[in-house]
Amino acid sequence: MLQRFYYEFFQILNRFTGTGITVYRRVRFEESDWAPYALFDSSRNYTRNLIATDHETFTLLLLCWNPNRESPIHDHPCDGCWMKVCRGQVQECRYVDNDSPIYANEEEKREEKGTSLQCISNQTASEGDIVFIQDSLGYHKIGNPSKTTLAVSLHLYAPPFQTCRIWYNENCKKPIQSSICHYSEYGKLV
Ligand SMILES: [Fe+2]
Repeated sequence: MLQRFYYEFFQILNRFTGTGITVYRRVRFEESDWAPYALFDSSRNYTRNLIATDHETFTLLLLCWNPNRESPIHDHPCDGCWMKVCRGQVQECRYVDNDSPIYANEEEKREEKGTSLQCISNQTASEGDIVFIQDSLGYHKIGNPSKTTLAVSLHLYAPPFQTCRIWYNENCKKPIQSSICHYSEYGKLV
């Protein structure tokens, strides 16, 4: 039932291309909606829990963050990722590579030559906040900045993808290709 709701929700989102964030913001995700998918594992930085997908146009994941843990820097080989914070806070550091057209200052670009990635923003999102990213805006790492509190975030990817590139830090010269894994699917451990 809940998965059907998310599928219909995404159809609405598709219909309103360009105002996706507005629609995403309006839909209320109560804790009782996402709690059945909030499976944590204290031995991992975070868990990726599949809520719903049609395997073609969208995937909806719930990410559960242990305190003071983060993801590697990664890209998003899709049209975009909408992240909504459900509990706690999520910190996002955004990067561009030195050859990116986003890197506007050519002089700085030359000075920084040899550094693979350049941090362009660092922001903390709180409960209810939405962050949108696609590769034309840069890459990012996200994590839980709290030293004591768990965090939970909802991630809508459109369309789904099976692999992405990751950098273990901003000085990595070359990213590696990483397969997307789920810790649980539809509320059950994989
Ligand atoms: Fe991401």
